[in-house]
Amino acid sequence: MADIRELIQKVSLAKNKLELQNLKTQFLGKNSQINQEFKKLGSLNEDERKVKATSLNNEKQKISEAINIRLKELEKLEINEKLQKDKVDVTLPARERPNGKIHPVSQVIDEISSIFSEIGFSVEEGPDVESEYNNFTALNTPEDHPARDMHDTFYLDKNKKILLRTHTSPVQIRTMLSGNPPFKIIVPGRTYRCDSDQTHSPMFHQLEGLHIDKNITMGHLKGCLDYFIKEFFEVKKIRMRFRPSHFPFTEPSAEVDIGYKLENGRIIVGEGDKWLEVLGCGMVHPNVLKNAKINTKIFQGFAFGMGIDRLAMLKYGINDLRSFFETDYRWLNYFGFDPLDVPTNYRGLSR
Ligand code: PHE
Repeated sequence: MADIRELIQKVSLAKNKLELQNLKTQFLGKNSQINQEFKKLGSLNEDERKVKATSLNNEKQKISEAINIRLKELEKLEINEKLQKDKVDVTLPARERPNGKIHPVSQVIDEISSIFSEIGFSVEEGPDVESEYNNFTALNTPEDHPARDMHDTFYLDKNKKILLRTHTSPVQIRTMLSGNPPFKIIVPGRTYRCDSDQTHSPMFHQLEGLHIDKNITMGHLKGCLDYFIKEFFEVKKIRMRFRPSHFPFTEPSAEVDIGYKLENGRIIVGEGDKWLEVLGCGMVHPNVLKNAKINTKIFQGFAFGMGIDRLAMLKYGINDLRSFFETDYRWLNYFGFDPLDVPTNYRGLSR
């Protein structure tokens, strides 16, 4: 029989659980030497048997104990090794990660909403896919009206009854039909026209404004837009002109230009002798009010529509409208805004 100390030493040197398991089978299993010895006990006389059995049991117990001790040690080693591997060095400097940025169009929509909410406008929305009726007919633009061609409409069906809205004005109709006057709303949203160059994109953004109440006049419209333009461009004075124009859904109608000058190729808004068209507006046509079930003897008001992307280009010096929609991360990183800096009138809109 092998020296018990030798066996115990082998156990204590087992490198892992598998090796230990093998040793256990080898030293205590069915074919182990100890087991063979136990089997031989029957051939001994009683006294010898007692002595031998006691010593065999002793040995067996010692080996078992050694195995258990080693098992505990190995488990501990295993855990320590794992902890060592998973160690996180909290003193390491943070790895630089790409920052999310707010797109200038979203930023400008937030700025505009903040400015108008300050004077009591609430924000409405409407669907991009519209009926021909809401987009044109209800807005006093009958089928043969030349304004329909001017809009380069994307129709979605053969009968030209469903389309991608060409402006946010159909939300005027939706809003007026779904409630009772007064109405004082702005509507930011996507609009579509089949047109693409440096200042036109087939998908662009508009902001509609509508204020219907008793005794609302063109004076209110001018005051409202004057306030808005100054707040938006964050200037005290602005040159602004109302140019007579035509829209089927307003009467009278005007287009609004703001003054600017070029300095080293950069647009400076509010000064100078150049004019830039920023929006269309007017007093809501009585036919539109009638289509929206409004009593024109009591209520009247103004509406306006402006190009959000164009305002963003002007304010933030972006030259090509198409770059807005190319989803180039480098562009967004350069022109985008900090997501934690929500624009408010009192804290500053863009700083
Ligand atoms: N819907 C017009 C356009 O897209 C703008 C507008 C809106 C004009 C409201 C007058 C009143 O050009």
